[in-house]
Amino acid sequence: MNKYNFDNVIDRHGTSAIKIEHLDMVFGRHDLTPLWIADLDFAVCPQITEALSQRLRHPVWGYSDARDSYWQSIIDWQRRRHGFGICREELSFIPGVVKGIAYAVNYFTREGDGIVIQTPVYHPFRIVAEGNKRRVVENPLKVVDGRYCMDLEGLEEVVRREKPRMMILCNPHNPIGIQWDADTLRRVASIARENNMVVVSDEIHGDLMLDGRKHIPFLSVSDDARAVGVMLGAPSKTFNIPGLVSSWMVVKNPEMRKEFYGWLEANEFNSPVLISTIGAEAAYTKGEQWLDEMLEYVSANIDFVEKYCNEHIPGVKMIRPDASFLVWLDFRELHMCQHDIMELLLDKAHLALNDGAMFGKQGEGFARLNIGAPRCVIANALESLRAAVECTCKNVRN
Ligand SMILES: Cc1ncc(COP(=O)(O)O)c(C=O)c1O
Repeated sequence: MNKYNFDNVIDRHGTSAIKIEHLDMVFGRHDLTPLWIADLDFAVCPQITEALSQRLRHPVWGYSDARDSYWQSIIDWQRRRHGFGICREELSFIPGVVKGIAYAVNYFTREGDGIVIQTPVYHPFRIVAEGNKRRVVENPLKVVDGRYCMDLEGLEEVVRREKPRMMILCNPHNPIGIQWDADTLRRVASIARENNMVVVSDEIHGDLMLDGRKHIPFLSVSDDARAVGVMLGAPSKTFNIPGLVSSWMVVKNPEMRKEFYGWLEANEFNSPVLISTIGAEAAYTKGEQWLDEMLEYVSANIDFVEKYCNEHIPGVKMIRPDASFLVWLDFRELHMCQHDIMELLLDKAHLALNDGAMFGKQGEGFARLNIGAPRCVIANALESLRAAVECTCKNVRN
């Protein structure tokens, strides 16, 4: 018998939730079911709330450092869940994974340097690189036998040609939810080492493995990976606490770490935030059952979407993710341009999904659906999508 209930519909209005408050700004209307930005609509694990409440009841919230038990909770979690060993000195606090990427970009590269991203991919990778006047070098994913994979020959070629100084890897990959296998990661690491390229591995979705799959941390695969890698993680997606901003970084290479961590320290970019560390420690030490039950629920939601699309919306195909609560929907069989797909979603189905094209032009014909919501919300959304697709196809036929 499960302990936690993920079926409750929780009203998030009035909580400054970007998913709701930014609907008008991003999609031009507010009457939409918000299934876009990547947080969950589930209540957090009560033990996290209790740990925070207990600390907040103390009347003084002065400058505070992270306790040893906070660092240990990350170390223990990584070993227990992923068989990945980290020492305390290899770890740093960072105030957000995207900020961690931005620190690495600013520290390890210069204006005009190339940075490899593998589109379609989480859009801030491009925003951070271009916003800091770096040159984006695309190595798009390829599709082989209907499955997305990394184009390793393409990577070797762009690295040889463009001489990038960095690659931003998404492991598991957002928006498609792919966990890269160890051989692929090892190849990336050896290409990077041979070509003097830092690999920033964003592993924020790594705890959200589905259907018994295993997460493979980039730094665990080889000496090459440990020589070139900066790994970023967080309990934010795992436990639905992104508002607490409690991310962390691991660098194994001692020389790289000494300089880079010294720079983070000098700029106070690594200063832990009181409630972040308390929330993270409670999550990592007391949230495991909640996570396992949440993943079971999310996996059942994915089954539900897959079955529903196959049975009722045959023009829309779901790409099954290895990890996380984001699903990549393929609308290409509807033979509509991206503008019309988004119009169908927004104006006919009243659903706010991420436009596939925001992840790169290879995302045209797709949209990203966040299924981290009670099943009844997902069921209603699919029903609206079915009706909108049917109506559109009927109009096209007539
Ligand atoms: C791959 C990836 N990295 C980073 C983030 C955001 O992390 P943070 O809020 O810690 O910057 C997200 C959020 O969706 C994500 O999907």
